[in-house]
Amino acid sequence: MGETMKGLHRTARCAEFTKEDIGKEVTVMGWVQKSRNKGGLIFTDVRDRSGILQVVFEEEKCGKEVFEKAATLRSEYCVAVVGLLRSRGTDANEKIATGAIEVEAKQLRILSESAVPPFQIEDEINTREELRLQYRYLDLRRSPLQRNIMLRHKLCIAVRNYMDEQGFLEIETPTFIKSTPEGARDYLVPSRVHQGEFYALPQSPQLLKQLLMCSGFDRYFQLARCYRDEDLRADRQPEFTQIDMELSFADVDDVIAVNEGLIKRIWKEVLGVDIKTPIERMTWQAAMDKYGSDKPDLRFDLPITDISDVVKDCGFSVFADTVKDGGFVRAIRVPGEGHMPRKKIDALVEVAKYYGGKGLAYLCVNCADDGSHKCSFAKFMKEEELEAIIKACGAEKGDLIVIAADKFTRVCQVMGQVRLELGRSLDLIDRNAWRFLWVTEFPLLEWSDEEGRFMAMHHPFTSPMEEDWQYIDSDPGRVRAKAYDIVLNGTELGGGSVRIHRADIQKKMLEVLGFTPEMAQSQFGFLLEAFKYGVPPHAGLAYGLDRVAMWMAGAESIRDVMAFPKVKDASDLMMGAPSVVDEKQLRDLAIKVDYDAINKKDNG
Ligand code: AMO
Ligand code: AMP
Repeated sequence: MGETMKGLHRTARCAEFTKEDIGKEVTVMGWVQKSRNKGGLIFTDVRDRSGILQVVFEEEKCGKEVFEKAATLRSEYCVAVVGLLRSRGTDANEKIATGAIEVEAKQLRILSESAVPPFQIEDEINTREELRLQYRYLDLRRSPLQRNIMLRHKLCIAVRNYMDEQGFLEIETPTFIKSTPEGARDYLVPSRVHQGEFYALPQSPQLLKQLLMCSGFDRYFQLARCYRDEDLRADRQPEFTQIDMELSFADVDDVIAVNEGLIKRIWKEVLGVDIKTPIERMTWQAAMDKYGSDKPDLRFDLPITDISDVVKDCGFSVFADTVKDGGFVRAIRVPGEGHMPRKKIDALVEVAKYYGGKGLAYLCVNCADDGSHKCSFAKFMKEEELEAIIKACGAEKGDLIVIAADKFTRVCQVMGQVRLELGRSLDLIDRNAWRFLWVTEFPLLEWSDEEGRFMAMHHPFTSPMEEDWQYIDSDPGRVRAKAYDIVLNGTELGGGSVRIHRADIQKKMLEVLGFTPEMAQSQFGFLLEAFKYGVPPHAGLAYGLDRVAMWMAGAESIRDVMAFPKVKDASDLMMGAPSVVDEKQLRDLAIKVDYDAINKKDNG
């Protein structure tokens, strides 16, 4: 049974009091962090979102009744305390912000009692994440999460202020829409009024923001909720937020300029960190060739070297044949690691295999006892062929060289991942670095073996580079796009592109992607129609806001910067969603659930 707070007004949050307030009568409200009864004295730490303040109950100061009530306080009771703010004198606790002051209690009201919480509300706990998410509201009381959520707020405000100053209008777009082409599966919402028909939740506001450009708003932004039914990871949630923007009369450099300003501003405002601009740019091709990734982590070096030319006629058939078949042989020189234990090298081979490689060859330069090379493919090679590889890699005595041979995409992936593993296991990553990078000139199209056709690498409205459009029929894979990603420390923070605004190019693009005019009409006829009425050239970009916040907070997962995240299988453990609904609701929607199919799936 809780008492009311009638007549009381909170003076300030717990950690907002300072030595300046000594001598004042104050009212604090918050939760009991802990309470210790030391005979005639009870010390109670009261906590709120600002931090902790110590309250002292002394029987002769507060009276017997208050003292006895104070003796009943338990963790997480919600309380109001009225008292005198005083100095702790020589008892000051340096570890907490309010450690030099305390409240000498006069009144106490227990606003609500608390059951014993399922885990301690402390900074460091090793409770299972499932339990923490089931009691997310308690988990959120812990100060690391409170800090993250407050940081996220600050970030949102900084974004809004900057975008406003740059002339962007914040415009909301609907969440019940028609499917958008971002490439994941849609979440669908059935319609009661139009039985048998469905809305799709937006994977992003892509088409809508393009229409806003048609409407003449010329600079739009939104902190937009997006929904994608895809496999979840540490940096992926089924619903997430984008910092989404679109600009008219803009080309690649205009988008980059606005966004370098944004990045500079938010890092300064939220973290006090100066980010140097201009941010480095790298073409997609260079990123893939040199780092094996379209989101290279530049916090450490270890570049990849192409040695295809060097080994194309060598004695090791794996290398020579790969090159003959149009593949590539690529190497990483790891300085000074020639004596890496066999077990560690085997672990690298496992990484290569995990990512689909057939193996990982290695060469330890002059590392055998007799001064020769230790090399997994030496028996196939002449001495001078090995020397040629060593020279091409710029390697020296004592270095390790690892080599993979495969088709372009695979060799990039394998070497990119081996490089990351080396960075981690050799502790080469500078944890304090903010290595931003623009990756530009992505391919327009990507061949899909599964679909047997080209797919849009970004989306079907991304503009090709003018100089490459001539190859659209003869060599579609060669056409580069005016698409760009902003990468931070090896993760994709955001991506965007210049859009197609010419009807002839759009028509051709849809043709190449295998859309019949009818399919195009039914899926985004409204956009094509709108573009008939004087569409301005436009371009845009979207960041994953959660990812930005995660990096800023130094969190391991975007779950740590979201108030109510979902777990790997996309369920909400607190609310118990998704859940079965009422038969009547389904009837209204004319939906029948195929329980037989579900049972079959569950059993098989
Ligand atoms: P894209 O699909 O690249 O582009 O998405 C932009 C950014 O959104 C973030 N993101 C996610 N964050 C958390 N969970 C997810 N499931 C998730 N999926 C994506 C990433 C990504 O870089 N409309 C285009 C943008 C444009 O062209 O303007 C788009 O959505 O950080
Ligand atoms: P093997 O003859 O199978 O013992 O292979 C000799 C070495 O080449 C081993 O270190 C293998 O891991 C490696 N290897 C095999 N296939 C490839 C490949 N496609 N790329 C790189 N190394 C490979």
